[in-house]
Amino acid sequence: MLGLFDSGLGGLTVLRRVRQLMPSHDLLYFADQAHVPYGDRSAEELRALLEFNIGWLDVQGADAIVMACNTSCAIADTYGWPRTTGQILDLIESAAIAVHDAGYTRVGIVATTATVDSGAYARKIRALTPSASVSEVSAPALVPLVEARQTQSADARAAVAAACAQLPRDTEAVVLACTHYPLLDEQFAAALGDGVARIDPALEQAGRTAALVAARAIAPGIGRTRYVTSGNLDSFRASITAVMGDANPHCERLEPARL
Ligand code: DGL
Repeated sequence: MLGLFDSGLGGLTVLRRVRQLMPSHDLLYFADQAHVPYGDRSAEELRALLEFNIGWLDVQGADAIVMACNTSCAIADTYGWPRTTGQILDLIESAAIAVHDAGYTRVGIVATTATVDSGAYARKIRALTPSASVSEVSAPALVPLVEARQTQSADARAAVAAACAQLPRDTEAVVLACTHYPLLDEQFAAALGDGVARIDPALEQAGRTAALVAARAIAPGIGRTRYVTSGNLDSFRASITAVMGDANPHCERLEPARL
């Protein structure tokens, strides 16, 4: 079984890519909606939540943990990863690979405040592409809009436009560096126009997951997805149906970590 987690609905954008490539593996998705948004939290809180989430997935028997939260990867880049039985696939590393493989050198990052503050994106992109200029912009208004399922609202359009307007004019490609943002892709497309590429790290992340599954011979299951939230179960179920198109998802609630 492969384990994934995020603060909320954003990680579903990674889950759906993983599911496309691995239809018969069992997936466990944890949305820590009791603590969303992660991006406005302190490093200390984020470390505690990372420890809890990874530890829980490990205890559930995850053969590998496919990171679906950039903010958690950013905190791990500074403080290190908790110990686990299975391998952890870093999402920011996948983003850096995607940037490198596409050959972009003038790169914009739109991310949460905690991710931008960590500097992890610039470090990881420059490790693979030393000539890259990396401009980072935080967009704290976006995650609450996605969680409230207001992705088509005028507020969402305005907030995405305001974030993109802060990027340098010669930006070639923008990384949607929070997993909630691909759910606002239409707004990013409108704000950036045709001349700027949009990179969703989830594609590379899913490809690396498939390679890991093959290399480690992680056995397929029955193609089941368990959805778990630390927030409200009814609203979570409705969101899963809306985002994943799953009419009758298997949803559970987990008591939130105490901070
Ligand atoms: N979706 C997460 C990320 O990729 C966390 C967003 C948040 O809760 O602020 O960073």
